[in-house]
Amino acid sequence: MKVISVLNHKGGVGKTTFTGSIAQALALTGCRVLAVDNDSQHNLSSLLNVGVRQPSILDVYRADIEAAPRLLLSSVVKTGLPNLHIVTSCGGLLDSAVGDARHLKKVMDACGLDRYYDFVFIDNAPGLDRLQMSAVNACGEIFVPTELRQFAVDGLVEMERTLLERCPKGGRITKIIPNNYRNIRRHNAFIAALNRMFEGRVTATRILTDAVFDEVATEGKILFLHRLYSKGAACYVKLVHELFRREEEEIWDALLDRRGEHIRERAKEMYHGRKAKRAEA
Ligand SMILES: Nc1ncnc2c1ncn2[C@@H]1O[C@H](COP(=O)(O)OP(=O)(O)OP(=O)(O)O)[C@@H](O)[C@H]1O
Ligand SMILES: [Mg+2]
Repeated sequence: MKVISVLNHKGGVGKTTFTGSIAQALALTGCRVLAVDNDSQHNLSSLLNVGVRQPSILDVYRADIEAAPRLLLSSVVKTGLPNLHIVTSCGGLLDSAVGDARHLKKVMDACGLDRYYDFVFIDNAPGLDRLQMSAVNACGEIFVPTELRQFAVDGLVEMERTLLERCPKGGRITKIIPNNYRNIRRHNAFIAALNRMFEGRVTATRILTDAVFDEVATEGKILFLHRLYSKGAACYVKLVHELFRREEEEIWDALLDRRGEHIRERAKEMYHGRKAKRAEA
């Protein structure tokens, strides 16, 4: 089981969109995925159409180490995709909820999550405080989506330095994923700078700017079932291929199958709905 923290001290750079999309893509292609919403804004819980539930990650932080593993397991909620589960968050999730920064790691280990999941993705709030460090301690890899702007790029070196100070063993950034990319000179110059600063750790795949991400989030839809032929979805297929070494063709085949099943299901539902209405009339 891989535990991956999605992190960036900057806000609004695409952390939640990345976590939700990659988790959905992996789940749709057969992996068992747990998403953990570690942000009081609970955007990931909303994106996966689950909303705020109880118990949540806050209860896991508040509980002592004896009670917390049971609470973590009972806070797991199913999403609209069979292979994708989530531990939701809530507005009360403040930094002060974290006593021991290794609590989440201990709790996850005690649960034996690797019996149930291939991947755990932890979505984080912006910042580098106790909540984020708790996720860093619990994970094996750190993925950093970033925008291609001066301060966003400059800040990543400082961010990694802080991460390594606070967590010398696990604070190294594994991958940087350029988001909101357009093929313009300024963006390409930032990519070149990132490659110099983080050699071998910047994905070759860049996530293009695409309004589809806002669209599916607003409408509560699943990118790969409703807008598979968008530029945005194609970027995520490439990312799954690059980050998790899966054949692109195999990913497309699985997604096309699932989309086909979804369309058939919806057509049946509409047909039976209409038939029931006619019978009532
Ligand atoms: N590649 C993209 N193209 C267009 N819009 C995008 C892209 N990636 C993300 N967005 C949009 O940008 C906004 C911010 O994205 P998101 O919420 O994922 O950022 P975040 O880093 O999680 O924010 P926060 O720091 O507040 O948690 C959302 O409206 C999302 O739909
Ligand atoms: Mg977010």
